[in-house]
Amino acid sequence: MSQELWSGVDEYISALLLPSDAALDGALKASQEAGLPAINVAPNQAKFLALLAQIQGARRILEVGTLGGYSAIWLARALPADGRLITLEQDPKHAQVAQHNLEHAGVAGLVQIRVGRAIDSLAALVNEGALPFDFVFIDADKQSIPEYFQWSLKLTRPGSVIVVDNVVRRGAVLDDRSADVNVRGVRRFNELVAKTSSVSATALQTVGSKGHDGFALIRVLGQA
Ligand code: SAH
Ligand code: DHB
Ligand code: MG
Repeated sequence: MSQELWSGVDEYISALLLPSDAALDGALKASQEAGLPAINVAPNQAKFLALLAQIQGARRILEVGTLGGYSAIWLARALPADGRLITLEQDPKHAQVAQHNLEHAGVAGLVQIRVGRAIDSLAALVNEGALPFDFVFIDADKQSIPEYFQWSLKLTRPGSVIVVDNVVRRGAVLDDRSADVNVRGVRRFNELVAKTSSVSATALQTVGSKGHDGFALIRVLGQA
């Protein structure tokens, strides 16, 4: 177990495959200066998400958990010119920083940040009859992941892809007696996915600059 080694390999990959980018670097800098926590996805994971969205041919993307808009910039750039990203954020300060960063990146026209509790915003999207999303990235508070997943099933279509971040938590997910609400949320989510017959799912653990964690990859098969 070597965080230094994991970070070194991430930096090596990013230096080779992710050209430095003023908007993305600026977004991280502005987020840090505004005091936001550095819990954005790592650059190489962000590009992985963007590639998945493009492979999927996603035209409508939903993100739960905006923070400073780092992953949102990547996902917005993965969209076609007439695509749309809706990203949900509870904290008005985070949303404000993200709005600025999205504008600076030139993608604000494709993105709507909805401020409020994600549960409420998801319910509102269903009520509005928002068209199905092709790709969903769930990355907000971990205790509510199961609920975000259930709402996502209502907002997607057969063939949609759902990615859920932070489902390994340094292996803490193995502890079935954990009192940590985040771990309990992730375990509840994993169990829910396992019994949801309308999806095909897997999860991968990752090591890198963000430590030991992982993400779930889900393909919607039919109506829940
Ligand atoms: N996806 C971002 C990181 C998101 S961090 C990136 O990779 O760049 C998680 C975000 O979820 C934080 O900004 C936090 O304020 C937000 N959040 C936490 N609980 C929430 C809730 N109940 N509803 C909406 N957003 C929430
Ligand atoms: C936390 C949240 C995340 O989405 C993440 O990728 C890492 C950490 C957190 O809340 O600690
Ligand atoms: Mg995350």
